[in-house]
Amino acid sequence: MKLVKTVLSQRAREIESSPTIALTMKARELRKQGIDISIFGQGEPDFTTPDHIIESAYRAMKGGYTKYSPVPGYPELRKAISEKLKSENSVDYSPEQIVVSSGAKHSITNAMYAILDPGDEVIIPVPGWVSYWEQVKLTGAKPILVKTKSEREFKITADEIRAVLTEKTKLLILNSPGNPTGSVYTREELAKIADLCVERDLLVMSDEIYEKLIYDNAEHISIASLSEEIQARTIIINGFSKAYAMTGWRMGYAAAPLEIADAMNKIQSQTTSNATSFVQIASMEALQGPQEPIAEMIEEYDKRRKLMVQLLQDIPGVECSAPKGAFYVFLCIQALIGLKYNGEQITDDECLTGLLLEIAHIQVVPGSSFGMPGYIRFSYATDMETIKSGMGKLKQFVTDLHQQQAI
Ligand SMILES: Cc1ncc(COP(=O)(O)O)c(C=O)c1O
Repeated sequence: MKLVKTVLSQRAREIESSPTIALTMKARELRKQGIDISIFGQGEPDFTTPDHIIESAYRAMKGGYTKYSPVPGYPELRKAISEKLKSENSVDYSPEQIVVSSGAKHSITNAMYAILDPGDEVIIPVPGWVSYWEQVKLTGAKPILVKTKSEREFKITADEIRAVLTEKTKLLILNSPGNPTGSVYTREELAKIADLCVERDLLVMSDEIYEKLIYDNAEHISIASLSEEIQARTIIINGFSKAYAMTGWRMGYAAAPLEIADAMNKIQSQTTSNATSFVQIASMEALQGPQEPIAEMIEEYDKRRKLMVQLLQDIPGVECSAPKGAFYVFLCIQALIGLKYNGEQITDDECLTGLLLEIAHIQVVPGSSFGMPGYIRFSYATDMETIKSGMGKLKQFVTDLHQQQAI
């Protein structure tokens, strides 16, 4: 029977589903059919969660942590996060300013619902993480995507922000180390942005989920640590997915000015209540227990990063520089656009992504998913063998492609 009223809300009709998740599912499907697909699309560690964290969750479950917890998280965990922020990030947020949620993505949603009204404008540097602008749209606010420049490692500048400010601008989103570029903002770059945000009364959401995955002596700076004025308008987002290989546990947190934290708490109380109780206890273990497993993972990512960059730089017609953070390489493929493979013209990065999956059997994410066509993203959260064979397949594909043009 056909219903008379439109079933779906305008909100549901306007939002896009996550392209990275969809692509990974497709590649896994092809793999199931027996095709040897090298997967570089995933945004999650390939490591399993360190044992001591798993055991702590088990003990917590056995010990009775199977009931509702306080909405913003157990006081011990919020205290542990507050201490972590102080010792590692030089920012002073009291436990009352911490809200623990079911993943950083959830913290971002809570924060956006707490501060955004329909019509507000949110500045998002692109390339950027796919969910930011869809989440902004869910609140009825308007994402203002600002294209950043490759020659500045895709980092937005204060001048670029100033150029798009209007009366309605409410929030700036920063993500350092960044997905998909791996770029890391320096203290000086952040200081200029912070000055502008204070001057123009802008809120900042600083997504620091990749803070621990950092290489080549780069330093992670939280913008909130630069002055009291900027801290008073910053919401820090962080979580356990990337650093502790805990994606499936769904654990994240926000540190925010008290008024915003209270509003997030209220919103969470009417939606998901609390993050999973025993996961909260295991997250305390992640923060306060042995950090060696984390250091080992980072060392391994660094080796993979170096190998991937070295192999990519050996492929004619693609361009990349070594990223300083996260676990992604953002590769410029503009020189391949317009060329023909078996008579089919490569019209854009999405078309190339399709050909790479079909012909070369490698799965990557097109830059347009991150708001930046002409690029593709590789994740090196995968083993060395996959990197070697995948880069070999890519080189073969690009070599064949160039040869076909010569005919
Ligand atoms: C930049 C960025 N922020 C937030 C998240 C979400 O992390 P979580 O798994 O904690 O929800 C991701 C995950 O891919 C991410 O890349």
